Amino acid sequence: MDDESRFRLLVQSVQDYGIFMLDPGGRVASWNAGAERITGYAAADILGQHCSVLHPAEDVAAGKPGRDLEIAVEQGCLEGEGWRVRKDGTRFWANVVITALFDEQGRLQGFGEVTRDVTERRAAELALRESEERFRLLVQSVQDYGIFMLDPEGHISSWNAGAERIKGYAAEEIIGQHFSVFYPAEDVAAGKPAWELEVAAAEGRLEDEGWRVRKDGTRFWANVVITALRDEQGRLQGFGKVTRDMTERRNAEQALRERRRLVGHLVEAQEVERRRIAWDVHDESIQSMVAVGMRLQLLASRLPEPHASAVGGLDASVQAAIARLRGLVSRLRPPELDRHGLVEAVSAYVDEVAGRWGLAHTVRDELTAEPSPEAAITAYRICQEALSNVHRHARANRVEVTLSTVDNGTMVRISDDGVGTAGGDAGAGHFGLVEMHERAEAAHGWLSVTSEPGQGTTVEFWLPILPDAPGVEP
Ligand SMILES: Nc1ncnc2c1ncn2[C@@H]1O[C@H](COP(=O)(O)OP(=O)(O)O)[C@@H](O)[C@H]1O
Ligand SMILES: [Mg+2]
Repeated sequence: MDDESRFRLLVQSVQDYGIFMLDPGGRVASWNAGAERITGYAAADILGQHCSVLHPAEDVAAGKPGRDLEIAVEQGCLEGEGWRVRKDGTRFWANVVITALFDEQGRLQGFGEVTRDVTERRAAELALRESEERFRLLVQSVQDYGIFMLDPEGHISSWNAGAERIKGYAAEEIIGQHFSVFYPAEDVAAGKPAWELEVAAAEGRLEDEGWRVRKDGTRFWANVVITALRDEQGRLQGFGKVTRDMTERRNAEQALRERRRLVGHLVEAQEVERRRIAWDVHDESIQSMVAVGMRLQLLASRLPEPHASAVGGLDASVQAAIARLRGLVSRLRPPELDRHGLVEAVSAYVDEVAGRWGLAHTVRDELTAEPSPEAAITAYRICQEALSNVHRHARANRVEVTLSTVDNGTMVRISDDGVGTAGGDAGAGHFGLVEMHERAEAAHGWLSVTSEPGQGTTVEFWLPILPDAPGVEP
């Protein structure tokens, strides 16, 4: 078999491409297996027919098949895409290359046509384009984020509804301008806009928080993410910018920080004051009453009856008053806290009050590190309030207090088996739970209350061991 026969055999058996010839008049002169597979025509059906049978009626009416051939003659070759019609009348999207064939004298001998069925590729492209279009619409209509694009030099090339809402510019006013108009004058003078693009281009992405300027000149606190956009070859095509207005968040955070500071300050002032009163009462009132008691005892021993009994009665009253004052001192500043630490102080308190209230109680000590004095007093005060709530509201039979060391901090859990109705909004005049939260948060910790009707209430809180643990404050 010579080369040409082998070549013809190859062409005839190709399945993926329709490869066929037309005579100079446009009639089909040869046909291969791929053309049969794609169009459904067997060679016998189509040989000798004009190629326009493969075109939709409207293209034939518009003279397109003949014109394609004319162009191929003029240019030597024509590539295009369009609808073609199968034998059964269905359509397919074809990629077609028509080559005009000339002999050595330059006379037209006919045409070679290579056809591929690219219907699926076209459908995929259309689907992609539609989804891109939908995505574009989504981005355009987003209100909460300013989303826009910059060209590689920093000129704005697209704009969305959120950007308009946040910055006050309509798309037609701002597109084409340089994005440095959003920066305060001092940032522009310092070269910040250009620097941000450089960093984003070098690192792919840059996040920044800072002041930006609206169209009307007012400032807002912005969170900004700039992303470098590169094509498949890695060439910089521009930047995507997403901006959020964080002014309210920032104000809220500042207000919260202020409040924490204030509460922390109040709580500390309260403790200082309590300690001062406790010392005063202990060092002055109690001492002088002890002295009075001793004199009364001395006096009673020298006096005849009935005066001795009367003075002895006075001494008993003084001793009772001293005991009450000692109780006051220890509530103002529990001495165990200073002398023996948190667990002792809480145990002594629980023993005392739960005993008085007829509550079964357990205090579990799983501490492996002693909290700072500040954290200890905070923990002690929260326990006091939580236990007084158990007494006043829970109708519980028992209460359990567990102290443990977790995550470099002190964790305390106070659980009762009572009616379990805490945690809701108790409304005006009820500050116990609020104060417990505030105390824990002012100490850079947290507190949570879980309560199920009939299942009891658990107050749990955690305080860092160091009052100002680094990294706790944002
Ligand atoms: N351990 C508890 N068991 C049941 N209810 C509780 C408990 N602790 C608190 N509560 C409920 O939560 C409400 C708010 O408590 P709190 O803020 O301390 O205010 P107060 O104790 O002054 O009422 C209480 O009135 C009570 O209804
Ligand atoms: Mg209370």
